[in-house]
Amino acid sequence: MAKQHRSYKNLPPLGGICSFEEAAKSGLSIDNCVSRLKRYHYAFKRLHGIFTAHITAEPIYELKMGFSHHAHLCAEHVNAMKTRITEMREPPLGLDKVPNPNLEIFFDEIIGAPTTEERLLGIYGKAIPALQDALQRHLDDTNPLADSPSVRICTFALLEVKEMQAYGQACLDALVDDPTRIKASAWLQNLAQLLADAGDLNGAQKVDPQTVANRCYSKTPYQYDPKPKRDERFPDPYNMGVNAEAFLYDESFAPEPKTLMMFYKRLREIDVPEMMASIIVETPNKPWSYYRDMTRQLWDEARHAMMGEVGFVDLGVDWRKVMVNFTWSLALNTQLTPIERHAVLYYIEQGLMPKTGKRFEWEVAQASKNPLSALFQDYDWADEVLHAKIGRDWYLSEIGAPKKAVDYGDECWSKVLIDWGKWKQDGLTDHRNWWPELYRDACEQWGIKPDDKVLRYHTTYEAIRADLKTISASG
Ligand SMILES: [Fe+2]
Ligand SMILES: [Fe+2]
Ligand SMILES: [Fe+2]
Repeated sequence: MAKQHRSYKNLPPLGGICSFEEAAKSGLSIDNCVSRLKRYHYAFKRLHGIFTAHITAEPIYELKMGFSHHAHLCAEHVNAMKTRITEMREPPLGLDKVPNPNLEIFFDEIIGAPTTEERLLGIYGKAIPALQDALQRHLDDTNPLADSPSVRICTFALLEVKEMQAYGQACLDALVDDPTRIKASAWLQNLAQLLADAGDLNGAQKVDPQTVANRCYSKTPYQYDPKPKRDERFPDPYNMGVNAEAFLYDESFAPEPKTLMMFYKRLREIDVPEMMASIIVETPNKPWSYYRDMTRQLWDEARHAMMGEVGFVDLGVDWRKVMVNFTWSLALNTQLTPIERHAVLYYIEQGLMPKTGKRFEWEVAQASKNPLSALFQDYDWADEVLHAKIGRDWYLSEIGAPKKAVDYGDECWSKVLIDWGKWKQDGLTDHRNWWPELYRDACEQWGIKPDDKVLRYHTTYEAIRADLKTISASG
């Protein structure tokens, strides 16, 4: 009947959702639908946790950025799933409950995988494909008219999960060779078994009671590593030999070379995801909107780092000549508590808002006639305004009064020991002045003769605190 039914003047029926035939099929009951949605919610939440936990100590820069991106996407989908579940006669929500013990072990195994290669195989070889299948199955199984709101969020989620999968596959192709795959095959088989024992990610499959999967890497609970690591393109991570802010705010220098310092400042924002990941991982029991907002900010900071990278690439300058240190994330992650770290971040980001902050950088970029720098500074500024709000929403609200919040941030930063001299003494760095080489390279690309005064610039962070007391270091 449904197949033969025609709409008025053959107009697209049913609001354009589907055909009569599709709308008349049997679908998932509310109970079944909610139970599946809770599993996608759980999967996105665990994936968010896995990505975030491995941003800091993952040495490969591209993966750090990829994990930051995917953590953000997962945080958004957790939110969407949660919102949909609340619409389905489901109080109390029970969203903190683990939907299936084998699913829990499945994700515990992946977060605890000891190498980058195994982690990638677990995430992009098993978890994401299982999630992709589950979301596709939802669209196939549910009634598109009755469950239209779930169809919509699953469709959006699927779109990004497919992109995550394509990214992950490319990473696996580039980084994981056959011997590594063969070595990992027993563990991967165990992961597949865990999924089967959970009735698949969506719980819709029959479970064979005879089979048992085991804990392997998750026998001892996962421990977050707060020490940032970088790959070989960051050869001097303690180098604090070039003070970008002192140059940027010196009016005697022209805007053009300042764009180089701003690209350096942007690229150095790589240390903010490294630090923010530690706050997120080590601050339990917050509402999901906290993790969602903080992860959005984390992703913005990663984007700012990549804007710096693109700025250098666009100029034809090798960014490996810029010594991007990790002193800030290392010091904060190892010396301060999560709330103290948040206090420092808040203090810095509030400092970006006056005229000497983000507006100034944008004006310099415009004056420099580098349109890419102007574009990036424009968005960097807008993002930092959002971050100041996130700081007010989640840090200030916890501390109370605005003045107290700023003072506490200043105090926390002041007690962090960033020991310029000791690092040099210990042979960790010479604080080599890499600026003249970078500037010369850029002048060559610009086809101009280097300015002697700019070339001679040699102010380090030895005597001037990174924020010049009021100007931000890591903005
Ligand atoms: Fe920020
Ligand atoms: Fe920033
Ligand atoms: Fe920024």
